[in-house]
Amino acid sequence: MKKLRMGVIGCGDITKYMMLLTKIDRSIKFAGFADPDESRARKFAARYKDAGAYKDYSQMIANEKIDAAYIAVPHYLHYPIVKDLISKGIHVLCEKPIVTALDHALELEKLAVEKQVKVGVNYQYRYDHACYRMVQAAHNGDLGRLYYGICNIPWSREASYFTDSKWHAYKETAGGGTLLTQGSHALDILLWAFNSEPVRAIGSTRRAKFHDVEVEDTAMGIVELSCGGIIQITSSMAAAKEQPVTITLYGEKGTAAYTGPYFSRVNFYGVRIPRYKAEGRGIHALSRSMNAFVKWVTNGTPYYCPINQSIPVLASVLAIYRSAESGKAEDVKKY
Ligand SMILES: NC(=O)c1ccc[n+]([C@@H]2O[C@H](COP(=O)([O-])OP(=O)(O)OC[C@H]3O[C@@H](n4cnc5c(N)ncnc54)[C@H](O)[C@@H]3O)[C@@H](O)[C@H]2O)c1
Repeated sequence: MKKLRMGVIGCGDITKYMMLLTKIDRSIKFAGFADPDESRARKFAARYKDAGAYKDYSQMIANEKIDAAYIAVPHYLHYPIVKDLISKGIHVLCEKPIVTALDHALELEKLAVEKQVKVGVNYQYRYDHACYRMVQAAHNGDLGRLYYGICNIPWSREASYFTDSKWHAYKETAGGGTLLTQGSHALDILLWAFNSEPVRAIGSTRRAKFHDVEVEDTAMGIVELSCGGIIQITSSMAAAKEQPVTITLYGEKGTAAYTGPYFSRVNFYGVRIPRYKAEGRGIHALSRSMNAFVKWVTNGTPYYCPINQSIPVLASVLAIYRSAESGKAEDVKKY
């Protein structure tokens, strides 16, 4: 089987996990690693045969003939780097969120269509089997008409989260705090399950634990959908001890209750649901997401989160942020 030649742009925290989990994926040839902190790029490159290490990703592209890139850089760099790669005809798996501004997301979506480049966004909970089963139960009508969904992300971070990766602390570089960075995974799952346009949002944000950063460490929001459904989210990095993410979806015939992402499971109440399984090979949602992206590029098998599917969650998060500022309900911008 011909392997997809991939470059990795950004060799920080999530890349460590992604590389560990995809090490045995024989469909990928990791050809190069780029990071301005070259020592990080070298550390990864040393683990792969003939892989180059680069300070500047443009050099990697010039030298390594890559077909696709995995992008895991600070949020403010997603837009310029993804745009550059699409323009060069390179397929992209970008870490979430796709970008931090809706007009940039729409511009990239259009450009990807024009250039016939595949752009996926790594909302990997879509490849968590339990989340996937919940969503399939919703899409197949097993839960009946969907009424409402609630998700809670009670995570814990220490000051080092902001000091080790300084970009996390500022609105300009991160675009937001826990809601955009952590909670958006769970919100994405509920939006995917409802498959209905978000229209209005109400929200409130706090710096409950970290006072000398610009972004929120705690957020609550309500998103109203065009189908009449409603979603509630609480996302935080201020919990004293990290607790599991919960996502619960209430429909007229039954309820689906997810707990994860470690040892994830979904329980159904009122209905019996087949064991639907997410596509992609790998032992973890991250590796399945990467493997499915590769299959999308190489043989067209649809990837669960192409760029257009990542836009409803971005638009909803931004509306919650606007509401938190204005103190009023805000329309979710059209996309
Ligand atoms: N899917 C998930 O579960 C998950 C988890 C954590 C982080 N993330 C996402 O991954 C991305 C990176 O987050 P992180 O936690 O790894 O951050 P990080 O700060 O640990 O790593 C970012 C890396 O990007 C490098 N970088 C900066 N500018 C660059 C450039 N121009 N070219 C190449 N590399 C550059 C930095 O030197 C650093 O090594 C973010 O989008 C984040 O939201 C996703």
